[in-house]
Amino acid sequence: MRISDTALLNALPDLGVELRAGASLAELTSLAIGGTTDLLRIHQHRHLPELVRLLRESQTPYRFLGGGSNVLIRDGELPWALLQLVRPNPDVLLEGNFARVDAAADLGRTVTFCAKHDLGGLEGLIGVPGTLGGALRMNAGAYGTQIGSFVREVEVYRAAAGRIETLRDSQINFEYRHTSFATDDIMLTVKLELPSKPYREIVQGIRICNEKRRASQPLNQKSAGCIFKNPPGASAGRMIDELGLKGHHVGDARVSDRHANFFINAGGASAADMLALIADVRERVRRAFGAELEEEVIVWKG
Ligand code: EPU
Repeated sequence: MRISDTALLNALPDLGVELRAGASLAELTSLAIGGTTDLLRIHQHRHLPELVRLLRESQTPYRFLGGGSNVLIRDGELPWALLQLVRPNPDVLLEGNFARVDAAADLGRTVTFCAKHDLGGLEGLIGVPGTLGGALRMNAGAYGTQIGSFVREVEVYRAAAGRIETLRDSQINFEYRHTSFATDDIMLTVKLELPSKPYREIVQGIRICNEKRRASQPLNQKSAGCIFKNPPGASAGRMIDELGLKGHHVGDARVSDRHANFFINAGGASAADMLALIADVRERVRRAFGAELEEEVIVWKG
């Protein structure tokens, strides 16, 4: 999608929005898959309502990209412009046991920054790639920790209402890899409440989680983490593994040899290859186990 509306294009500099024309999503996603489109990089939250108003007025379809680590985006010229928040500096402000974190902040760096200030609780999330905003939307979790448990407030741009609102934790439902945010809500900042813990103790916890992750997940390969959610009481990875599907592939889209619920881009996989692999594995699991696997990765087919 190439933005052609002149009113919109002319307004971008005043809104502090940087246009990257024809950006390649293969360079912006951890799977290294995805077509091209215009990318709008937003430097100041407060200009978001006006930007969205102009996008709507010019009938420019758009979507919001976070850290690109849990998304599978279609090939070719994309039918939407993409919006992305730029990380401010500093991106975390601490006050007692509260951390106010920008949605564009990197999750792993936030965990270690808070640790250095003796604020713990997030150890399990070390190694989960992506931004705070993305983690929040999906209620990212690992090793018994879910981000939602620490959330006290979220400042969010509600596209439906056209304004920025602050939601209290009691107004948000956090479930397994799912939240009650609307699909067009855009996370801006989050206030976390974290337990006090000595740095040395937190680092110990981080080390244990890192070791577990390194032993079981293909960390140095291009992936979007787990492809499927675990069905209640079952493990998608174990079922796929039991079917002998490690290494199974469609083109360069491949079931990881290390963890069967990680599908990797082993070279030049296209979105079509990855989608075909997902469909094939889902069908095999359905036939063998009668289980219906639901994607954990967010798929933008357009
Ligand atoms: N297993 C196999 N073969 C495999 C993979 C797993 O037999 O190829 C078995 C394991 O031996 C274990 C069970 O399946 O007995 C569960 O595996 P694991 O402990 O690796 O956890 P998981 O359920 O596959 C979940 C999350 C991960 C998270 C880990 C650690 C989901 C879909 N996945 O994986 O999150 O890192 O627990 O807490 O909930 C993600 O969300 O992208 C993700 C990777």
